[in-house]
Amino acid sequence: MTNQSAPVIVIFGITGDLSKRKLLPAVYHLFHKKLLPTGTQIIGTSRSPLSKADLMHLIEGSLNDRDEACEDEALNQLNASIDTVQIDPEKLSDFQKLKDKLDDLDNNANHSRLFYMSIPPSAYGPIISNLKATGLNSEANRILLEKPFGYNLTSATEAVKLVGSAYQAEQIYRIDHYLAKETAQNLLSFRLHNPIFVPLWNNGHIDSVHVRQFETLGIEGRVNFYEQTGALRDMIQSHLMQILALTLMDVPENMTSKAIHAAKLKFFASLQEARPTKAIRGQYQTYRQEVGKDSNVETYVKLELSSQLTAWQGVPLLLEHGKGMNRTLADITIAFKSAGERRRNSLTFQIQPNEGISLNLLIKEPGLTNNMTHTALDLKYKDVFKSAHTVDAYERVLMDAVRGDQSLFASDEEVLTTWRILQPLLDTWADNDEGLRIYPNAAEKVR
Ligand code: BG6
Repeated sequence: MTNQSAPVIVIFGITGDLSKRKLLPAVYHLFHKKLLPTGTQIIGTSRSPLSKADLMHLIEGSLNDRDEACEDEALNQLNASIDTVQIDPEKLSDFQKLKDKLDDLDNNANHSRLFYMSIPPSAYGPIISNLKATGLNSEANRILLEKPFGYNLTSATEAVKLVGSAYQAEQIYRIDHYLAKETAQNLLSFRLHNPIFVPLWNNGHIDSVHVRQFETLGIEGRVNFYEQTGALRDMIQSHLMQILALTLMDVPENMTSKAIHAAKLKFFASLQEARPTKAIRGQYQTYRQEVGKDSNVETYVKLELSSQLTAWQGVPLLLEHGKGMNRTLADITIAFKSAGERRRNSLTFQIQPNEGISLNLLIKEPGLTNNMTHTALDLKYKDVFKSAHTVDAYERVLMDAVRGDQSLFASDEEVLTTWRILQPLLDTWADNDEGLRIYPNAAEKVR
């Protein structure tokens, strides 16, 4: 454990799906690796009774679901550092109870507080106003918000206003865990420190950019969540657009959070509104059966955006995400221009699985032949960095919030701008099935 000031991390929605899949395993790993400041406390809040033993059980279960074993030392450490509070979000007196508990902890140590909202934005309202009413929004408090940040431009604008009425920009951390993935973090460093690519990073040399994320999983029982979201809101507006920005934005003047956000916003502001004629949506075959209704919610989206920046004019920027596909992957492919289709070079950043970077080249086949073959210079992190995977994306997100580094979080302007760009698709697709392609589960592509 480190000597930084120890935080109390208060988690709303700790029994939810996202918490079980991502957050609780990350909390366990941070304790296991002793990365959090000594004295860090975790408080899980829930509407219905949740004992400390229940919470420990939940943590162990979340690791077992990933086929990971728990170690006794880390579990004991966690057991000594967690607690639960039953909170009805509408009841001010429950927040007073929470505040008393936090004040008690402060008698022993000077804790900063992180309120982690692992809940949908529609549930923010009462929690934020009650946190404010009990003074849990003063300087020592930070708030972490899970995506989606709103459901469209109007609700995102309201959510920004609501959160902003209680917390200052420096206290707000809008999580996008894709920004914390190892390859994503490498994007800016790669561009900054490999000068051979600098003259190539524009429309004179780049033909198209494709950011893709596929999952074999479907919605895994998250019916209510997914019926309010869909693929465009769930993955494109946040993760994929953020990754696109890191790939193409100007390299910031320096690596401060402020400079990174300014460069990213400039890129988002250059994007033209999405055109429905340049987008397709699909739904995997068993989706309607799973949600038990005739839903038109999309589980697959592919769209093409374009930027007005001089460097990127005319370059198709493709974003694609699908659930229920035949493989799980996330990557960014930059295709370079060439005189002939067969001679195309490309550079791929493999975000997952098996992080790496590969450069596709044409090589003459050995022997008495002049045949050319596509092959790749293939760098795999696991081969080069023996200690790869020291910290996963959610662990990194939590550590950065504890340290007060906002670089990997989305600003409110970024969020609003991305919603503005995608709003025409939301409007066109609302409540109808026009052009919705039903694709077989485990599809390779959506046609
Ligand atoms: C979440 C989405 O933000 O990201 C999920 O809500 C999605 O629907 C998940 O499955 C993908 O994240 P990862 O890290 O598992 O690729």
